[in-house]
Amino acid sequence: MKQNKINSHIIGMGYYAPENIIDNEYFTQFMETSDQWISERTGIKERRFVNKGQGPADIAVPAVERALENAKLTVDDIDFIIFATSTPDYYIPGSGCILQEKMNFSTIGALDIRNACSGFIYAISIADQFIKTQTYKNILVVTAEVQSTAMNLTNTGRDTSVIFADGAAATILSATESNQGILSTHLHSEGKYLKELWVEAPSSKANPKLSQEILDQEKHYLKMNGKEVFKHAVKRFPEVIIEGLKHNNLTVDDIDLLIPHQANIRISKMIQKKLNLSDHQVISNIHKYGNTTAASIPIALCETINNNKLCKGDTLVLAAFGSGFSWGSAILKW
Ligand code: UT7
Repeated sequence: MKQNKINSHIIGMGYYAPENIIDNEYFTQFMETSDQWISERTGIKERRFVNKGQGPADIAVPAVERALENAKLTVDDIDFIIFATSTPDYYIPGSGCILQEKMNFSTIGALDIRNACSGFIYAISIADQFIKTQTYKNILVVTAEVQSTAMNLTNTGRDTSVIFADGAAATILSATESNQGILSTHLHSEGKYLKELWVEAPSSKANPKLSQEILDQEKHYLKMNGKEVFKHAVKRFPEVIIEGLKHNNLTVDDIDLLIPHQANIRISKMIQKKLNLSDHQVISNIHKYGNTTAASIPIALCETINNNKLCKGDTLVLAAFGSGFSWGSAILKW
C-alpha cells in the first residue's frame, strides 16, 4: 500500500526577549559611538541583554513554555530537542541537556548544534529529516543566545558590541500528511573565512584552554571583520534563496514573505532590492532586538505569526548567513 508523504510543519512557536532593554545611548559610556552611527549603519535602535548569571538554557525556558502552550502540547509530547546556540551555557555538556533537566523532559535525545547565525536553518533541516523518516513526531527546536557576555565594550570592540544581543525562541515541528510545512532546506559552508567572525578562546588548541594571557589578548571576545562579512552576505543570501526556489520549481514572484537573519538592515534592503521584493514582503525587527544570531529568524517568524502576517498557503522563505562562514535557506508552504 502506498504511504502518504510526511511533511514537517510548525505547530507552535514562542519567543523570549530578556526584559533588560539596552538603547544605543548605553554604549556611549564605554566607547566612542552614537545613536546616529548605530541606527544608520545597522538599523538597530535597541536590543536586550540578560541579567548577570543567565545562560541560553535559562532564557530558553519561557520561550519553550510559550511554544508548548501555543501548540497545545506538554513536555511529554516532545520526542527530541535540537538546541541551536553559538553561545552555549558551558563548553561541555550541550545546552540541550541542560534544558532537558530544567524543564523535566523525559530522557529524550538532546542535540546541540553550533552554526551561529545559520543555526535555525540547520536545526529545522535536521528536524525535517527526523520527521520525514518518521523517527520522531514532535521536535522542539530551541534557538537561544547570550551574546552580551562575549562583547568587548571598548573602542576596539565597538563594531560588534553594538550589534549582537540576547534572545531566545522555540519552535515545535510536527509530522503532517498535508502539503504544508518545509518544502526543502539548503545548507552551505566555507571554513576558509572562519576568522572573519569568530571567538578564538577558550580553544582546545591552547593548553591551558584559558589563561590570563589569553584574556589579556582579548581572545574571548567575538570578533568580526564587518566589511568582509557584509560583502559575502549580500552575495550568499540571494544565491541561496534562488537555489531553494529553483529546487521547488518556484521563482521570486512566488515569494509571499521573506524572513532573513537580522544581521543589518542594509543587508536586508540589498537582498530586497536584488530580489525585487516590496517592503511588506521582507520582515525586519532588528531595530528592537539587534542581531540575536540563531534566535533572530524564529523571533521574527513568531512575531510575524502573532501579527497575522502569514496566511495559509503562503510561500515563506527563510535565509541566513553568518560565522563559518555558513549559510542556508528554507522554503516553506504555510
Ligand atoms: O550575523 C552575522 C552576520 N553579520 C553581519 O552580516 C554583519 C555585517 N557587517 C556589518 O553589518 C557592517 O560591516 C558593520 C555595521 C559592522 C560596520 O558598518 P560599515 O559600514 O562596514 O562600517 P566600517 O566597518 O567600514 O566602519 C566605518 C567607520 C570606521 O571608522 P574609520 O576607519 O572610517 O575612521 C569604524 O572604525 O565606522 C567606525 N565604527 C564606528 N563608529 C561609531 C565602527 N563601529 C563603530 C561604532 N560607532 N559602533
